[in-house]
Amino acid sequence: MTLIIDTRTEPDRALAHACETLEAGLPVAIPTETVYGLAADATNPDAIGRIYEMKGRPRFNPLICHVADFAMAEQHVSFDPISRQLADAFWPGPLTLILPLKSGSSVHSLASAGLDTLGVRMPDGFSRAVIARFGRPLAAPSANTSGKISPTSATHVEADLGDRLALILDAGPADIGLESTIVKVEGDNIRLLRPGGLDVADIEKLTGRTVLRAETAGAAIEAPGMLASHYAPGAAVRLDATDVRAGEALIRFGGKPLPGEDKAALVLDLSLSGDLREAAANLFAYMKQADASKASTIAFGSIPHEGLGEAILDRLERAAAPRE
Ligand code: TXA
Ligand code: MG
Repeated sequence: MTLIIDTRTEPDRALAHACETLEAGLPVAIPTETVYGLAADATNPDAIGRIYEMKGRPRFNPLICHVADFAMAEQHVSFDPISRQLADAFWPGPLTLILPLKSGSSVHSLASAGLDTLGVRMPDGFSRAVIARFGRPLAAPSANTSGKISPTSATHVEADLGDRLALILDAGPADIGLESTIVKVEGDNIRLLRPGGLDVADIEKLTGRTVLRAETAGAAIEAPGMLASHYAPGAAVRLDATDVRAGEALIRFGGKPLPGEDKAALVLDLSLSGDLREAAANLFAYMKQADASKASTIAFGSIPHEGLGEAILDRLERAAAPRE
């Protein structure tokens, strides 16, 4: 049986149970502002092994380590000046930095997949309190079966991993709804490894530098969230739909009806007012809802490639990619 504790009504009990479970080497589903994470003690190889097992995740895929504060981060990684500027501006928040691992770090190599770098993030909200109380970094991928849609609520986590998990902390729907933006600073260059909940334009505004996209940066598959097929619902996915075919589920944007909607199995709008932040927050829950409608195809209306639209379209292209 999975224990679910609401952090809004029982914060102390949630903290105590989470730390006890983590100390026992078991993963705990924690709410972050991006998506729910499947968290385990990043220094304990057995605990990390259980994350990979629960997700059915390929072992070579490194995990993001979540820290409570800068002191904790600095025990494990070194900051170059640009990364430090980014962390000062955007932490806690939806930004993951890939940084050189310090030789004295107690983070286990199973979390970093043997790389000499570590993905680090200081999350916002209740999960940060859990890390502070626990006192060690938590390795946490999104709390879903590998390749599937990331969870933005405790209910999503329970439906996917409930049969395997001891504890889920429920803080309500995730504020941002998309995974963190991942960047790696190399010399004077900032490379985007994954678009996400932090708008790349905000990084460019702060630093006065152009962030290099995968195309311009050499397109190495460095963040396996960049694997072509990912975030896949059960149904087929059709992008840039200009009409709806009978029996399809439609997910549109901006309140504009499409021809054929009357024949759709389901019609959802990511943001009637055309707000990309609202659309990001709704995306994964709507994909799950459309999938549950049993429509064989989910059609998506067009979404502007600007601001968080870049991260939304990245997820949709992966959802639409041929599956292996
Ligand atoms: O918002 C998020 O980032 C969520 C929440 C739970 O924090 N976490 C998340 O983790 O999305 P995950 O494991 O689903 O995605 C982590 C991505 C993977 O694509 C992984 O390959 C990449 O980060 N990554 C981790 N460490 C890396 C490293 N040292 N170098 C390059 N990529 C790395
Ligand atoms: Mg994931």
